[in-house]
Amino acid sequence: MMRALVLAGGTGSRLRPLTYTLPKQLVPVAGKPILHYVMDQIHATGIREVGVILAPQTGAQIRSSLEDNPWGLSFTFLLQNEPLGLAHAVKVARDFLEDQPFLMYLGDNLIGASIVHFVELFRKEQPEAVILLKEVEDPRSFGVAVVNDAGEVTRLVEKPKNPPSSLALVGVYLFSPAVHPIIEHLRPSWRGELEITDAIQGLLERGHRVLAHTLDAWWLDTGKKDDLLEANRVVLDDWLKREIDEKAVLEEARIVGRVRVEAGAVIRRSTVRGPVVVGKGSRIEDAFIGPYTSIGRDCVIRRASVEHAVLLDGTVVEGVDRLEDSLLGHRVRLVRKDGQPHHALRVNLGDDAEVVL
Ligand code: G1P
Repeated sequence: MMRALVLAGGTGSRLRPLTYTLPKQLVPVAGKPILHYVMDQIHATGIREVGVILAPQTGAQIRSSLEDNPWGLSFTFLLQNEPLGLAHAVKVARDFLEDQPFLMYLGDNLIGASIVHFVELFRKEQPEAVILLKEVEDPRSFGVAVVNDAGEVTRLVEKPKNPPSSLALVGVYLFSPAVHPIIEHLRPSWRGELEITDAIQGLLERGHRVLAHTLDAWWLDTGKKDDLLEANRVVLDDWLKREIDEKAVLEEARIVGRVRVEAGAVIRRSTVRGPVVVGKGSRIEDAFIGPYTSIGRDCVIRRASVEHAVLLDGTVVEGVDRLEDSLLGHRVRLVRKDGQPHHALRVNLGDDAEVVL
């Protein structure tokens, strides 16, 4: 039976300050951690055995986020002691993978289409690998592939200065066990990592067949603040449904459009204009919440207007007239005292920050 290998190590330096305390795979998009979308995708393929690669720094958080396991997947946690690359992670998982074909999925990748067809292509054609590609404007920060008219990959390069095509490798791959002996002989790249891109190039050099599937739907790299807000916007646009929990309290609340209000949330004397998610136990009073906002659990928004923003659990925004295009970590307090001048605010605040204006 095919297995899945999910990579949930790495550091997430581009999403600082948020990722000082939160693994990048657990950053929420539309109120749900990216890693949970990955598990949705894997579950839909019928695969049930999932190896999860963890880093020592963030492993415990990743494990506890998967404890509820609504997918009913069987998880095997595998520790990668040092971030030595994607192909190194496959080495760490060598025993778990046995000699089965496997789906490898980078735990911080969000894509707007099901991967079921991609898995079917691999099962039907039985090549040594299938890679998922997406046409991007600037492929220099990705692995890049050259594909012929038959959909066969002819060449791959990792982060090329002069990209040979505009097709970037999305972090979803299918492999037969033929990749293992190649990884055994890989040498570290200039960045000191064993690159999976080099392993696939190695398959090609030994005459193996590698097929490509090009994604039409969106693919989001949630690497930076603006990318994360964009991911939040796209996911709210595409997937959010109007859903108001019966245990939410609404008093003089105007809820317009696609809004999800979770259990125990309280909305008073406020307007919420979707698409918006209001997480469990959050309290919104005398406020306006504008489109493309995801509010985590147990937040308080009082005498404020917030639009196009992501607020993580336990955050308080009070007396702020226009907060927009912003990302706030856990338990941030952003409070304006009475009588201070009003201007739009655009902030990127990590956990436990406090701003009093
Ligand atoms: C990795 C891969 C790269 C791929 C990218 C997708 O890059 O090495 O080929 O295009 O993931 O997210 P990294 O995130 O390690 O820079």
